[in-house]
Amino acid sequence: MKFVSHIKSYVKRNGRITTSQKKFLKKKEYDNNFFIISKKNLNYKELFNNSNPCVLDIGFGDGKLLISIAKKFPEINFIGLEVYESGIGNILCQIDENKINNIKISNLDAVEALNNHINDKSLFGISLFFPDPWPKKKHHKRRIINDQFIKLISTKVKKNGFIKITTDWSNYADIIIKLFDHNNNFKKAHEIYLYKNRDITKFEKRGILLGNKITELSYFLN
Ligand SMILES: C[S@@+](CC[C@H](N)C(=O)[O-])C[C@H]1O[C@@H](n2cnc3c(N)ncnc32)[C@H](O)[C@@H]1O
Repeated sequence: MKFVSHIKSYVKRNGRITTSQKKFLKKKEYDNNFFIISKKNLNYKELFNNSNPCVLDIGFGDGKLLISIAKKFPEINFIGLEVYESGIGNILCQIDENKINNIKISNLDAVEALNNHINDKSLFGISLFFPDPWPKKKHHKRRIINDQFIKLISTKVKKNGFIKITTDWSNYADIIIKLFDHNNNFKKAHEIYLYKNRDITKFEKRGILLGNKITELSYFLN
């Protein structure tokens, strides 16, 4: 299932890239090891050299949460998407330092990746930790989670697969809850075991400092 055009949920920023991030971004060997940027119709078995279930993490930011979850669950494969170059550099350093072999990453836009690279009914789960809230009303059209996006992810996750979303924006949370309530493909879940006692993310810390309420949403595909 494809949704052809969409408004981007991010604005490309030229954030500061550290010397070690640069080193990792330049290393060509990472193209085959971790970087899956241009492969269409991904075959996870070929990619990870095993048949383990695969989870897609959208917008991993500094990558710390993704690294800690991947270390805790070596029997699960993870594909991380992040459009921000310093985030990519950062996670490449952490993958190397921790000798992790169950994470592959890409700098593709998530909608593009889901449309053209991820096969239907292939994922064990999808996670979005603190997707950009685009708080101004005039920017709400940039929010990644909308009706079309939920329809798209419902085609990519396997039966009984999961969707995990967290946000510190109550208004965004209310909208997401309504969208899932109106989509018969999903049922609410209490929690997804992978994220029980998970680490707090960078953006979550910021939200907590601002006094925002953290909403955790978990769903299973029927
Ligand atoms: C608010 S940050 C949250 C980062 C991290 N998950 C955390 O909790 O610290 C949202 C991240 O999603 C990324 N992002 C936004 N839209 C995206 C898209 N369409 N595809 C991939 N990444 C995206 C942004 O670059 C940003 O790093």
